[in-house]
Amino acid sequence: MNHLIPLPASLLPTQLEFQLGPDTQILVAPATPETLRVSEFLAAALRHATGYALSIVPDPPAHARDQIFLTLHDDSTLGAEGYELNLTPDGVFLRAQTPAGLFYGIQTLLQLGAPSPAQKPQTWRAATGSIRDVPRFAWRGAMLDVARHFFSVQDVKRYIDWLAAYKLNRLHLHLSDDQGWRIEIKTWDKLATIGGSSGVGGKKSGYYTQAEYRELVAYAAERFIVIVPEIDMPGHTNAALAAYPELNCDGVAREPYTGIEVGFSSLCLDKEITYQFLEDVIRELAALTPGEFIHIGGDEAHATDKTAYTQFIARVETIVEKYGKRMVGWEEIGQAKISARAVAQLWRGEYGAQAIQQGAQVILSPGKHAYLDMQYNEQSPLGLHWAGYVEAQDAYAWDPATLSAGVGESNILGVEAALWSETLLTFDDITFMAFPRLTAIAEIAWSPQAARNWESYRQRVAAHGARWQALGLHFYRSPQIDWE
Ligand code: ACM
Repeated sequence: MNHLIPLPASLLPTQLEFQLGPDTQILVAPATPETLRVSEFLAAALRHATGYALSIVPDPPAHARDQIFLTLHDDSTLGAEGYELNLTPDGVFLRAQTPAGLFYGIQTLLQLGAPSPAQKPQTWRAATGSIRDVPRFAWRGAMLDVARHFFSVQDVKRYIDWLAAYKLNRLHLHLSDDQGWRIEIKTWDKLATIGGSSGVGGKKSGYYTQAEYRELVAYAAERFIVIVPEIDMPGHTNAALAAYPELNCDGVAREPYTGIEVGFSSLCLDKEITYQFLEDVIRELAALTPGEFIHIGGDEAHATDKTAYTQFIARVETIVEKYGKRMVGWEEIGQAKISARAVAQLWRGEYGAQAIQQGAQVILSPGKHAYLDMQYNEQSPLGLHWAGYVEAQDAYAWDPATLSAGVGESNILGVEAALWSETLLTFDDITFMAFPRLTAIAEIAWSPQAARNWESYRQRVAAHGARWQALGLHFYRSPQIDWE
């Protein structure tokens, strides 16, 4: 029980052992489409680990021994995502108010069992004890930049699998930037066909069709992850400006951009066509998005007049709201008049207080701690270092509630690990930068501050390293951790 990530809110080991047998079943009550689906998720993982049948029994008539019981029951103290997990030598008892809570309990159970599922042990044992667990923050995010380099549906699904394993619940996709536009927009089709045809260094271009994007949304939703789409504006827009000359103030299409410098592009804020364009894009994105939020970027608008910028952000929020969504933007939106429903994502810590004064909540992605694209050290083969070098301990050892003046616990909707892809080409590149820092951010987002400390994390993550190795995950063997 001593290697869980994220650390549960409370944990009481009882020093015995539960062992899965060839006849162990998964009993689920009440049987609903969602509870059966999460049961099947657990069954599939345990079948893979053991080769046992692990049949699912809906609404079992009586309790049997040596089984796994999944139950929904009313307990408001568990909230929308909490769970209670009791392991005894006679059975595993998992209870939650919601299918999401059951899903998180299942992630915990899977970590407690066989550490190396790839080795297919014929036995699957877990230490006994009881856990009651609820997350600290509602927004536990990861951002993936698919604009600088494009990543396939398959790569994004593999990343989603890892996010789910560590109880993250938001995947923010950075879908457009100077270098590429990555989502099909039916009313402006050249955004994808022309804007999507470039990438950093001329490599890894492409875009998701709306059908592919819906497939990602559904895959994530099955794992209780909400996809938050970001279309960056009014800067970081060269790909759109290359696709449509009329979006430029001078009416001349820009050349595709394959560099990595930023801050040179801007939509033309004086033209009405710009707002028609944004309304069409936001309407189509909202229709693809079951989640509450649309991210409008808003960062580094260095080529946009400051007053025009603030008026623009306020107008864009009315468009986002018109389609029933809440606006998220990088912290620069705090300079504009925004509503209390808006959310500002802090990355430098300059404008958070301005957003909070307007009643908005914030998401913390501080570059020095939560930017997974920062190099680990001077020798790191991938990444940048403009925010500094971010070793495992830098990613782990900070508290969202005390990071910035004027930003307290109640202002914080959550925490998000951001992964920009200027230097990343492959899935292995993604995971090398993400692990073991993504797991640090996942713990910050989920676990009580008082319960966690670096020394404990560095010991626990070493056990995860053995599992990552067995599963073929490419990760950074930080010298700060005594890997097993
Ligand atoms: C950012 O890193 N430009 C949000």
